[in-house]
Amino acid sequence: MNIAIYPGTFDPITNGHIDILKKAVRIFDKVIIAVAEETGKNTLFNIEERKNICSGAVKNIAKVEVSSFDGLVVNFAKKMNASTMIRGMRAVSDFEYELQLVLMNKKLDKDIETIFLLPNFEYLYLSSSMVKKVMKLGGKITGLIPENVETAMREKIL
Ligand code: COA
Repeated sequence: MNIAIYPGTFDPITNGHIDILKKAVRIFDKVIIAVAEETGKNTLFNIEERKNICSGAVKNIAKVEVSSFDGLVVNFAKKMNASTMIRGMRAVSDFEYELQLVLMNKKLDKDIETIFLLPNFEYLYLSSSMVKKVMKLGGKITGLIPENVETAMREKIL
């Protein structure tokens, strides 16, 4: 079985992440969303909330599982029998940070490959922070996040 993990903070998951995920399941037999417990970010949602919100958002996508991890992402990949990590590459601004992650992860475990997928045009400049900011300011975020994410954000923010 060809398994990949899709790691991130997912605070919260957006339609941009889901777009990447849908592309990934066309390539892999199983894709595990790996919600990072600790990423140094001051998150709006705690780890259980982030995980549950992800599960609700992907419940209709076959071949996807949701899990959380603490510690090194390469160790989590090994534990899940995944030899590939999926990352989304949105714009050139993502490149340098992603390069650092790939090189460090490669040094930590040479057997784990990272594959970058490009989001569709409409999600190129989408980020979780942007969605949170716009909602806090009362702006419209229609089409940018799944329905269950919007509900969870309204409960938390408004
Ligand atoms: N659509 C919309 N937004 C996207 C996106 C897409 N396709 N792809 C990335 N993003 C956004 C995210 O929403 C997030 O936005 P934010 O900063 O506004 O919240 C940003 O891009 C990057 O977030 P994410 O992809 O979740 O990555 P991250 O940098 O938060 O986390 C980990 C990266 C979890 C993979 C990394 O920190 C990690 O592996 N941590 C574990 C420790 C470890 O092993 N480190 C590696 C060695 S240094």
